[in-house]
Amino acid sequence: MSQITLRVNGETRTVDVDPSTPLLYVLRNDLGLRGPRFGCGLSQCGTCTVLMNGNPVRSCSRPVSRAQGTEITTLEGLSGDDELHPVQQAWIDEQVPQCGYCQNGQILAAAALLADNPGPTDDEIREGMNRVLCRCMTYYRIQAAVRRAAEVMADGEVER
Ligand code: FES
Ligand code: FES
Repeated sequence: MSQITLRVNGETRTVDVDPSTPLLYVLRNDLGLRGPRFGCGLSQCGTCTVLMNGNPVRSCSRPVSRAQGTEITTLEGLSGDDELHPVQQAWIDEQVPQCGYCQNGQILAAAALLADNPGPTDDEIREGMNRVLCRCMTYYRIQAAVRRAAEVMADGEVER
C-alpha cells in the first residue's frame, strides 16, 4: 500500500492503496464518487470515463499511480455549484438516457469534445463520440444533445 495524492474535482484527496489499483476503483470505493461506472473493465466501452487534464480517460484501466499530478474531473465535478454544465442541461432537454448506464461516459466525452471543438459538424460529433458505447442505442439523441449544447455555448448563454 502507498499514500497516493490525487486532485479530484478541484480538491486534493489522499488515499492509502496499492498503486496498481485501477483509478475507477479508487474513485468509487475510496472517494465515494459514483459517476464513473464499471462496464467492461477492458478499456472498450467507455462507461468508466473521467476527464484527466480535460481529456477523456478510461479509469478502469488506468492505475491510480498514473493519475497523480493530474486534474481529474468526474461527472460530479462537471457542473458549477448552482448550475448544470450545458451538456448536462442538453441531455435533460433532449431526454437522452434510456437505462442510463453509459451516460457518464457520454456526457464527459461530449464535454471534452465541445471544449476542443465548440462547433462540431455532425460527422465530427459522431467521430468524437464513437468511443463510448450505448447498448440502448441512444446515439441519435446524443447527437441532438451535443448539437444543442454547442448552440447554447455559442450563443453565450453559458460560458465554460
Ligand atoms: S469499464 Fe472502462 S472502458 Fe469499459
Ligand atoms: S442508455 Fe442504456 S447503455 Fe446507454
